[in-house]
Amino acid sequence: MTGIFDSGVGGLAAYFELRRLLPREDIIYLADRKNAPYGTKTKDELIALTKKDIKRLCDMGARQVLIACCTASTVYSELSEWERAIATPIITPASRVAAEGERIAVIATEHTVRSGAFGKEIRKFSQASEVFERAEQLLVAMVESGSRDGRISGECEGEIRQIAEWVTDIRADTLVLGCTHFSHIESTLRELLPCVKIVSPAREGAKAIKKKITVQNATGNGREIYI
Ligand code: DGL
Repeated sequence: MTGIFDSGVGGLAAYFELRRLLPREDIIYLADRKNAPYGTKTKDELIALTKKDIKRLCDMGARQVLIACCTASTVYSELSEWERAIATPIITPASRVAAEGERIAVIATEHTVRSGAFGKEIRKFSQASEVFERAEQLLVAMVESGSRDGRISGECEGEIRQIAEWVTDIRADTLVLGCTHFSHIESTLRELLPCVKIVSPAREGAKAIKKKITVQNATGNGREIYI
């Protein structure tokens, strides 16, 4: 069984991708709404929450865990050896793909931008790439509250337009959805930025954890548990 967690609905994009890749895998999805948002937490608070989420999923039977939250993925290196062996962060696989671009825009939470995690990781794969990061913490709450009926509010649409203008102004060729909540506005961003490559850490993370799942583990019953 694979565990996936996020502070809320963001990690669902990773869940859908993993379900598509491994239809029979048993998956348990944890949305830690009680402690959301993660993006405004301190590093120490995030380490404690990430450890707790991994333990909770493992206690329920998960053999591997996808950290489907970019903010929590920024503290991956602070986890114990055991936790790092069990858990897969999503910033690294997404950065590998993003690094194919020359001018890379990243929208993320306050904490993720402050940590500079995407910039550091992308430069490991390409020294030549330029990275521009923008915090969009309010958009997290807009997506979280608007996602249940699938509609985008006027306020949210205005924010998305501003992001599109910023991406155009800085002449980015690549846009990283550096907070998984933004997967829910991906189609609107695609319409506004048809020539920009959009990288989804949620999807890249799902592809990365698939490699960790053995054939034996992937012969479950396609069970789904949401907590
Ligand atoms: N979805 C999360 C991320 O990828 C965090 C959103 C939040 O709780 O601030 O960073």
